[in-house]
Amino acid sequence: MKNILVIGSINMDLTVSTPRVPVMGETIHGHSFSTSPGGKGANQAIAAAKSGGTVKFFGAVGNDVYAKALVNNLECNGVEYNGVSIEDVSTGVAVITIFNGNNSIILDAGANGRITVEMLEKKKELFAWADYLILQGEIPEEINIESAKYAKETGTVVVFNPAPYQDFSDELYKYIDWIIPNESETELMTRVCVDNEDSARKAVDLIRKKGVRNVIITWGEKGSVYSCGEDIKIMPARKTEAVDTTAAGDCFIGNFVRMLAEGSDIDTAVLYATAASSIAVSRRGASDSLPTKNEIEKLINC
Ligand code: RIB
Repeated sequence: MKNILVIGSINMDLTVSTPRVPVMGETIHGHSFSTSPGGKGANQAIAAAKSGGTVKFFGAVGNDVYAKALVNNLECNGVEYNGVSIEDVSTGVAVITIFNGNNSIILDAGANGRITVEMLEKKKELFAWADYLILQGEIPEEINIESAKYAKETGTVVVFNPAPYQDFSDELYKYIDWIIPNESETELMTRVCVDNEDSARKAVDLIRKKGVRNVIITWGEKGSVYSCGEDIKIMPARKTEAVDTTAAGDCFIGNFVRMLAEGSDIDTAVLYATAASSIAVSRRGASDSLPTKNEIEKLINC
């Protein structure tokens, strides 16, 4: 098993289910409020560790009640925490509403937004340890660029989840080996709405022009489109009743990379990642919804 390093966000998710989406200025009743551990980085790390990966995490928490709970949650799920605590800021939070199984998320980055290059430099030994590095868009871009640059120096494979989407710099793209956006991030990146195989091919080609060779577009209930050469392939999703889609993409990414770290071929890694995320959407919560290896294998073999 090869080693996986995740550098990224760690949040407390404050989630409420709603009967409909409120209009501006309106108050409506929601239900089933919960606080649960999340953050794209932490979710991806836990998805990889829970399914058998060897995973370390670097990120930042603030000075509040959420910090300890989130670090404990990483450690209880088998992730080695190598992060920093920042005194004068809150831990990241995500305010999530769930309507009809789909989520909308508002982030306050808190400590995630305060990671500095100096903090990262003190953890440089992590890059020599890592065979795979997973990054996302919830920490400052300069941290992603520096991390990806260090990874290239140590021959570490860089996997980037461009979420939430922003206009990422060309410099970052040139260090990325795998990019894994969802369909809305793909549309923002390429201006192509991926609704069939032709548009998927067009989007993949445009993403490649940014300098990234290997692309996976996660496609919600339709599955995923993936390509590591001229060919594009489609992996259909498994039929599942979606209770909460939060962290489904994170689950896919953590499991995909864990499979590669185990030595799997790409098709099998995508198959496992797809099965894993179908389990995640059938449960509420972010990291709480992520499946174990046994659960994934049981689903694949049934
Ligand atoms: O991808 C889902 C995650 O996005 C949530 O856990 C939330 O914290 C936000 O980071």
